[in-house]
Amino acid sequence: MKKNLLLLLLFSNILFASNNDSQLTGKKVFQTYCWGCHHQTAMAFGPPFNQIANKRTKAEIEAYIASPKSMYKAFGYKRTVMTQLDLNATELDLISDYILSFKGKK
Ligand code: HEC
Repeated sequence: MKKNLLLLLLFSNILFASNNDSQLTGKKVFQTYCWGCHHQTAMAFGPPFNQIANKRTKAEIEAYIASPKSMYKAFGYKRTVMTQLDLNATELDLISDYILSFKGKK
């Protein structure tokens, strides 16, 4: 009985993990493309997400990620060193919602 329960737990864990894997989330986009330069609430090479969320709209965030080179002046930067990433519309949507979820967080 105990063994069965363990097996069941193990099995559901595997299911959960694989299910998780196929589902793209904002956090995954963050970990794949942004984490080297941005952190959620701490300053890294680029500004933290909570700071961005406090001053930008979703449209602004998406525009910046889509093209830092055409947006950096409007955002008040003298130059840009952010990588040009070619995210698709779904990834852009997920990552900008993820950034905005840090609004007001310390
Ligand atoms: C190579 C490092 C690097 C990577 C990778 C990177 N960024 Fe940036 N990002 C920066 C830096 C540095 C800035 C500050 C301005 C600049 O240099 O463009 C910035 C600025 C930004 C801004 C504008 C900040 C503001 O003032 O509101 C947003 C939004 C942003 N990054 C989002 C992202 C997202 C989302 C990803 C991943 C999909 C990402 N960045 C990947 C380095 C990076």
